[in-house]
Amino acid sequence: MLVLGISGSMRKEGNTALLVQTILDRVKAAGIETEYITLSDKVIKPCLGCENCKRERHCIIMNDDWHDVIDRVMACEVLVLGSPTYYYDVCGHLKNFIDRTYSLYHDRRLAGRKAVAVACCADKGGRRALQTIEGFFSSHEFSYVGGVCGRGYLAGEVLEDKRAIAAAKKVGDKIVTLVKPSD
Ligand SMILES: Cc1cc2nc3c(=O)[nH]c(=O)nc-3n(C[C@H](O)[C@H](O)[C@H](O)COP(=O)(O)O)c2cc1C
Repeated sequence: MLVLGISGSMRKEGNTALLVQTILDRVKAAGIETEYITLSDKVIKPCLGCENCKRERHCIIMNDDWHDVIDRVMACEVLVLGSPTYYYDVCGHLKNFIDRTYSLYHDRRLAGRKAVAVACCADKGGRRALQTIEGFFSSHEFSYVGGVCGRGYLAGEVLEDKRAIAAAKKVGDKIVTLVKPSD
């Protein structure tokens, strides 16, 4: 049983990373296994729209890091997926990651996992970024646990958003109740 957190931000220690990690810390404190991945050091090429995955049942782009990350997603029970808000939506790096999962969509290979969406914005557009992540979850038939939207501009500022930190802890607790075996 694994709760996997992914930050799609190129800021390794940015606001999205901090909010995703706040959720994971809560889960870890309850004795549940967690893993954290930043996409900041990963090469994720864009989907080619070639539709070869429909025939091959896997993505034909092999020379990047997408397969390593998606293997970890396949191994998890709960996915916490976060993005900074860029122009009222998810950042391009995370969108590339999401688009490549089309190769798993045909057989709904991600279906049944639980999922939490995280977005950070300086001011506006975070809700729409959350909706994009929710749309990804919905398309793949994840079971949606909840979403957290944090405010911050410079890296670290989201820690001052008390409402978002409280919401992150609350969704962490919700994950624990959903996955922890009852005594
Ligand atoms: C290219 C770019 C576009 C952005 N667009 C928005 C936006 O539409 N709305 C907003 O409130 N903040 C926007 N921001 C600010 C980021 O969302 C904000 O700094 C966020 O906390 C970054 O998260 P991170 O530290 O995880 O990368 C933008 C920043 C960049 C670099």
